[in-house]
Amino acid sequence: MNEKIDKIKQHAQDLRAEIELHNYRYYVLDNPTIPDAEYDKQLRELQRIEQDYPQLITADSPTQRVGAAPLKAFPQILHRKPMLSLNNAFEDVELETFNRRVCEGLSVDSIEYAVEPKFDGLAVSLCYEDGIFKTGATRGDGYMGEDITLNLRTIKSIPLSLPVDNPPPLLEVRGEVLMLKADFLNLNQRQVAKGEKEFANPRNAAAGSVRQLDPGITATRRLAFFAYGVGEYQDSHMPLDKHSHVMAYLALLHFPVAKECDVVKGLQELLAYYQAIEVQRECLPYDIDGVVYKVNSLTQQKQLGFVSRAPRFALAHKFPAQEVVTQLLGIDVQVGRTGALTPVARLKPVFVGGATVTNATLHNADEIERKDVHIGDTVIVRRAGDVIPEIVAVILEKRRPDAQIFLMPEHCPVCGAKAVRLANEAVLRCTGGLFCPAQRKQAILHFASRRAMDIEGLGDKLVNQMVDQAIVRTPADLYKLGLGALANLERMAEKSANNILRAIEKSKHTTLARFIYALGIRNVGETTAKDLAAHLGSLDRLIEAGSERLQQVPDVGPVVAQSIADFFAEAHNCEVIEQLRACGVHWVEHEGISTLVVGMKPLHGKTFVLTGTLPTLNREEAKEKIEALGGKVSGSVSKKTDYVVVGADPGSKYDKALSLGISVLDETGLMELLQ
Ligand code: IVH
Repeated sequence: MNEKIDKIKQHAQDLRAEIELHNYRYYVLDNPTIPDAEYDKQLRELQRIEQDYPQLITADSPTQRVGAAPLKAFPQILHRKPMLSLNNAFEDVELETFNRRVCEGLSVDSIEYAVEPKFDGLAVSLCYEDGIFKTGATRGDGYMGEDITLNLRTIKSIPLSLPVDNPPPLLEVRGEVLMLKADFLNLNQRQVAKGEKEFANPRNAAAGSVRQLDPGITATRRLAFFAYGVGEYQDSHMPLDKHSHVMAYLALLHFPVAKECDVVKGLQELLAYYQAIEVQRECLPYDIDGVVYKVNSLTQQKQLGFVSRAPRFALAHKFPAQEVVTQLLGIDVQVGRTGALTPVARLKPVFVGGATVTNATLHNADEIERKDVHIGDTVIVRRAGDVIPEIVAVILEKRRPDAQIFLMPEHCPVCGAKAVRLANEAVLRCTGGLFCPAQRKQAILHFASRRAMDIEGLGDKLVNQMVDQAIVRTPADLYKLGLGALANLERMAEKSANNILRAIEKSKHTTLARFIYALGIRNVGETTAKDLAAHLGSLDRLIEAGSERLQQVPDVGPVVAQSIADFFAEAHNCEVIEQLRACGVHWVEHEGISTLVVGMKPLHGKTFVLTGTLPTLNREEAKEKIEALGGKVSGSVSKKTDYVVVGADPGSKYDKALSLGISVLDETGLMELLQ
């Protein structure tokens, strides 16, 4: 009996390998070697075996791609390595600057780059444990994403198991999920036939499909995946020398890798690649919004490192934004979180850059004057990727005699408080502060946003009602809401009200970095909030820190320090914070990095730049020595640089150091300082 089962088990295993190979040939190589009917026959045979012997079903069986039950919500997944973003360039000169900085940073004349299309889809991370696809997640905030494993399993070009005998214990593959143009057109045809809403573009269709709670729906949408790199891994076969070799290795493991990936050398070849891909763009089977350049050598990548959330060794070179002509119907004035009054153009709807645009920013009064915009004008509108559309210019020849001049209001259109223009600022600001409902709404929306307290479902419609009906005035009021008050709001059934309450409750458990960011302190973005949290470790320490102490935190200068001081000097802000804590909002506190480090590391807070060849130390050794004592090594000289270490044949950094009056050391000087 056992022998019989063993035989069936082996047969099932063979069928699985065979079916996955056909999937690979069909969906990745676009080169099937058997007719569809034969493939279906094999799949049915496997299904029959698994039906008769359910104990033989394995997680990586192709029969298990579909059929999982719908979820209530996506669980969160922590990425083992953060998923970072890329710096963007639109102009050739920005590309030149990038290449120059890379060359300077590495002290070489010419660099080899891996070049790739910039896929216009959705970033995901696929995690393989012992060769089996275990989890897949969205990018989320880069550190934590949503677990969309069940949906990703339905994508046939994603291997469920790696086709190798000794699979690596761990492999995280990073790439983009997208919908091919042809599949997008098909999907929209089906949507129309069913009387359902069409998707604006393949990117939205892919995003909408992969974030479905019901994997059954995702399975009906044909999605594609392209790998562009790896995250964490334990894999003795992983190439350690070049990114292009990593990509070749991923292709060997049956991951889809774009045919357009290439390796080039130097600035001219980068430009030539960009131009070649731009020509091919229309004919490519998928949407792209530019190309990506990556320093090919992994050692050089490490040497260059990262700034904030983006690598210094890579750049996204975007295609120019698309422009169209439409009519300006009117100008509304919106009030932002910090009271800034922004004129917003109301446009005759127009399709541009993959979406219908009805609004565009006009930035401020100076812009309106400079561009000579009148209401009723025919205007050129530009939209690039996710960037807010903007009005580029007016077509003056088409100006109608009844076109009207627009003047910014003298009072806030929402609360009526006086609007003022502060020195050195281009914008008018409402002086109503948090008494202005518009500012209050924006502050609450920011507080609840995904990267801040992450209160799911608390969108602008709900916040508008809450503030208008005065049931919420400050972020702390959110934590005092009851079911009764919520369920009274428009379009709020008891179930959704309960969901919101649950999301609010969940947000009480947060991190100090998120909380600081959520406060909406001027000039304190997400990265600064993270730095402040890491370096100070507790909210009280942040509140009490003086300007000098704050400026020991990386990238905090006098302006940011002043904004922080102003924020906590406002009694109202401190009251709201107290109420939030009293309502149970909490996080883990710690000693703070700098309190630990300051006592121990003498070069803490000092930034060094290296240029030229030192007589005995190589660049890596010098860097290690500086970092070991708490110093930082940067690739470029600025006012914040403390020392420039100069060797033979120094580059332009030496001249810059002299012109900025920064201390210059030779190797001996550096060694003395280190001692
Ligand atoms: S590499 C450390 N390569 O662009 C760099 N990203 O702004 C990690 N993207 O969210 C990204 N095509 O989803 C890389 N060939 C490509 C890409 C690519 C598209 C997306 C990616 C990421 C965003 C970065």
